[in-house]
Amino acid sequence: MGMAEKEISQAVIGRLPRYFRYLGELKDQGVERISSQELSELMRVTASQIRQDFNHFGGFGQQGYGYNVEYLYTEIGKILGLNKTHNLIIVGAGNLGQALANYMNFARRGFIFTGIFDINPALYGKMIRGIEVRPMEEMAQFVQQNNVDIAVLTIPKSEAVSVAGRLTAVGIKAIWNFAHVDLDVPDGVQVENVHLSDSLMRLSYMLERYETQKNDL
Ligand code: NAI
Repeated sequence: MGMAEKEISQAVIGRLPRYFRYLGELKDQGVERISSQELSELMRVTASQIRQDFNHFGGFGQQGYGYNVEYLYTEIGKILGLNKTHNLIIVGAGNLGQALANYMNFARRGFIFTGIFDINPALYGKMIRGIEVRPMEEMAQFVQQNNVDIAVLTIPKSEAVSVAGRLTAVGIKAIWNFAHVDLDVPDGVQVENVHLSDSLMRLSYMLERYETQKNDL
């Protein structure tokens, strides 16, 4: 893909996981081909949006009747880098860190939970999904020995910036950041911020707008 991929907007990239999910379900149901029209009805996006999105990647060869589901699933998976596996560690074994560790479906997408770290001695040795909580002092060596490239950051925001620095210094290539603070990382390190409260505020906005419109009628 190379050059062309740089041009692709975040909006398109943001829609790929949803295509991937729907195609995975269709594949599991044994559906072999699907037209953009059918996919459009299923996903409630316009067929032209789907064609435009797919055209960024060469269109995925829609011939005759629709797309080959298995092929499309595989190709979108490759674009998302899901054809490889990634070892990940969780840093911060509190409420959120443990909840994420307990959600094992990430492994289906190739994200392998290999370690979890904390600074609270009371948590050391606690087993979560068969993996023990280790002290942060062991993090650097663990990352290097276990080929870890992703870190999930579930620590207080006051700690997040310095811990992110330690993680990238030992070779972490991507951070899934749940701490409510913007991280400053070296070039080439990827950060995805997740803020559940942003999603809740969008919900609140929609609720607010609906109530206002109802009262205006
Ligand atoms: P928690 O207090 O249960 O867990 C935090 C854990 O981090 C504790 O076990 C603590 O010992 C550990 N910790 C503190 N400093 C550390 C360090 N330097 N290195 C390693 N571990 C360290 O808190 P909770 O509820 O799990 O939340 C964790 C973080 O995630 C907070 O920053 C919170 O604001 C954030 N959060 C974000 C959400 C989101 O949608 N982005 C949703 C919920 C929480």
